[in-house]
This record gives sequence, structure tokens and C-alpha cells, in this order.
Amino acid sequence: MRKHVVAGNWKMNNDIPQTEALIQDLKRHAKTSEVEVMIAPSATNLWHASELLKGSDIEVIAQNMHFAENGAFTGEISASMLKSVGVKTVILGHSERRAYYNETDKSLSKKVNSALDNGMTIVFCFGEELQDRKADMHQSVVKDQIQSALFHLDASAFKNIILAYEPVWAIGTGETASPDQAQEMHHFIRNTLVNQYNQSVADDVSILYGGSVKPSNAKEIFSKQDVDGGLIGGAALNAEDFFAIVNAISSASNFPLEFNAIS
Ligand code: 13P
Repeated sequence: MRKHVVAGNWKMNNDIPQTEALIQDLKRHAKTSEVEVMIAPSATNLWHASELLKGSDIEVIAQNMHFAENGAFTGEISASMLKSVGVKTVILGHSERRAYYNETDKSLSKKVNSALDNGMTIVFCFGEELQDRKADMHQSVVKDQIQSALFHLDASAFKNIILAYEPVWAIGTGETASPDQAQEMHHFIRNTLVNQYNQSVADDVSILYGGSVKPSNAKEIFSKQDVDGGLIGGAALNAEDFFAIVNAISSASNFPLEFNAIS
């Protein structure tokens, strides 16, 4: 059965003292639950964050990595470097990386291969821009993004992939996809996986929604059948808000009983 995940993408926020303070706060708000909770601090803070969260249920993950193992790539970080600071999961394909750092589906497929070759888990992000949705192209854009970066993989690779649908127009704008829009897209993604692979790949992959998720709208979005959690930006920078979102998963009505049995 698929996992329920809430991941906080801190983006380029928080130096070391701020990271320490936020992690202390997160530990205060954390409760044991069936939801997998992840935070993605900046690369400079990964080691320290991993040390601070040793033995806790919060996983520290990276925001990006390079596809090469090592070499003349100034400013870049490889999968093995991430592993050496205790990181086993990496976000790839975030729309900000695509928009500002020219990441393409082709370069992303190389990163995907490198992460999987290194035994890492990937949170793979994709999503349409506003103009695509206005032109009713959102489904074909998303299908292309998934297809070009992931469909060269064997079905078994999807055990180590979490998908994150983040409509670009909803990121940091305060505007969310409506729960129905999110459900429609997540269902479409699952169907695309059935067609390319099989029902069990589609059923087992977690599909997160990202884009202006807040404590006030999380429960409604997470109550949709095909929404398995969230990738959270702004609201992940406040521990109380972040855990209100995590806890919204357990109270969302579509979750199986064991997900409601949170201590
Ligand atoms: P916001 O939650 O700030 O809209 O950001 C979403 C996001 O980009 C997470 O990766």
C-alpha cells in the first residue's frame, strides 16, 4: 500500500542558527504517526540537520543534486556526497529549478538515474504553468514531464519514487488548485502509470500535492482519494503550521482506519 508523506521544502531559507531553532520547534510539535515526515533544508545545513534529527521520525532530504558522481562541476553536489551526510532522499525537478536553472526533462532523467543507482529515493516534481491550464493542456504537459524523465525506468524503480504534482501557478501565490482539480490530476497521473506499467505500480506510488498548502486548506485537499500527502513550501517554515498540515492527513476522511489511529 502506498505511503502518506508530508515533505517540507525549505527552499533557500534558514542559516544554521535558524535551522537549529526550527528543528527544535519541529521536535516539540512532532507526534508519532503513520505519515512519513520529511524536511529539505539547504545543502549547507543537511549534515547538521541530520545529526539533530538522529533517532527522530523526521527524515532530512535534499532539494537537488547533480547527475555525475564527481568531477569538474563547480558548485554542485553528488548523490554520494548527500549519502555521506546521512541523506537518502532527494527532491528532483522542482519548478524553480526548471525555471531558473534550466533543468530539462532530459537532464532530470540523468539525475533520476544517478539517484536510483545510488539507492536513493526521489521526490519527483512536475506541474503545468497557468498558460497550459488555460489552454486545457495541463494533462498533456504533465504526462510529457513524467514520461520524458521517468518512463525509461523499470516498474520496480517506482518503489523508490514519490511523485509531487505542483502546478506552477499555485506555488507561493496563495492560490491552490481546488481539491477537485488536484484529484482530477492525481487520478490522471495514476491512470498514466496504469497504461505505461500496471495497476500495482499506479496503486503503490505516493502522489503528493504542492502549491500553497496551509493548515486551513490541507484537510480538504488530503481528503481526496488520490492525494497521498503534500510538498509544502512557505508553511513548512513554521513548525506549528507544518505539523497542523501533517495532522490534517490523519483526520482527512478518505484515509484508512490505521491512519486515523494517531496517538
Ligand atoms: P508553497 O507551499 O510556498 O506554495 O511552495 C510549494 C512548493 O514549491 C514546495 O516545493
